[in-house]
Amino acid sequence: MRHLTDPTDITRQETDDIVALALDIIANRQKYSEVCKGKKLATLFYEPSTRTRLSFTAAMMELGGNVLGFSDANSSSVSKGETVEDTVRVVGCFADIIAMRHHIEGAPLDASTVSRVPIINAGDGSHAHPTQTLTDLLTITRELGHLDNLTIGFCGDLRFGRTVHSLIKALSRYEGTKVVLIAPDELRLPDYIKHDVCEKNGVEYREVSSMEEVMGELDVLYMTRVQKERFLDEEEFDRVKDCFVLDAAKMALAKEKMAVLHPLPRVNEILKEVDADPRAAYFRQVENGKFVRMALIYTLLKWAEQGAEPLHNHKGEEVEGLTCPNKKCICNNENVDYKFHLTDGGVYRCIYCSTKAK
Ligand code: CP
Repeated sequence: MRHLTDPTDITRQETDDIVALALDIIANRQKYSEVCKGKKLATLFYEPSTRTRLSFTAAMMELGGNVLGFSDANSSSVSKGETVEDTVRVVGCFADIIAMRHHIEGAPLDASTVSRVPIINAGDGSHAHPTQTLTDLLTITRELGHLDNLTIGFCGDLRFGRTVHSLIKALSRYEGTKVVLIAPDELRLPDYIKHDVCEKNGVEYREVSSMEEVMGELDVLYMTRVQKERFLDEEEFDRVKDCFVLDAAKMALAKEKMAVLHPLPRVNEILKEVDADPRAAYFRQVENGKFVRMALIYTLLKWAEQGAEPLHNHKGEEVEGLTCPNKKCICNNENVDYKFHLTDGGVYRCIYCSTKAK
């Protein structure tokens, strides 16, 4: 069974095929209007969402299928203590495919180990958001025409920003990707993305402290919100919350053909005055999310019918004496064994949240 819990669960070619399918869906909407007739998507959202949940819902409706699920886990038997594994075993009796968002990192991967239907990670804590990545890749393709040889500036919360982690992973598979990291010290990109993704794949990256110094070299500026809900310490959040703001003066320094992306919601990191700039692609990006999720649902259901085998088994191994120190990881929140994979750098990392083992 193929699932999508991480951008690397699909190959670069499969990623390109899903983006190409989304483009065909945009051009030929009627052709796809009944391809999922009789199929059901369950949306299990344990954490708030506007774009991801509604775009999954709209996507399945436009494919001719139906949708069930919950947007508040407290209204489900989760509130009685039902585990993620038991929940997906149950929901798999009613639905053909499941999209899950969870505040606990690794919950969708844990779900995939017991599920009889495909699981799509719709965002797990600060860890990964692979369908936002597909949205971003489709948006860059539509805005700039290619995914190779791009210089991308990631700005804001690079530490907790799951959309950033997933997009860097995906772009590291394209030729000539260069990454510029614009963040305060407290919100720098996790080391595992720098070492295990950028360095391993030969992606050039550098860290800078102002937007002005790099605006003129960027093909894509990927803005992010500083996420209050991810901070354990409110004082730390207050120190960094207004760190980088995109305004018309900064846009004046950028290339004529740059694209500004943002997974949204925004708070104050992009001023409204930027919205009218033709390079502001973030609302077009939202609509692309629906089309690419149509392509993904259709593809995963087809693979399930064909009995396709996963690329990775994600099984990992138990290592005596090692634990995962991440309090937000599924293995520290439900009855899930600690499991690790050994990276090329000789470091054991948790299979669920990628945190270095202790
Ligand atoms: N981009 C995104 O994940 O938005 P939502 O939180 O509204 O789903």
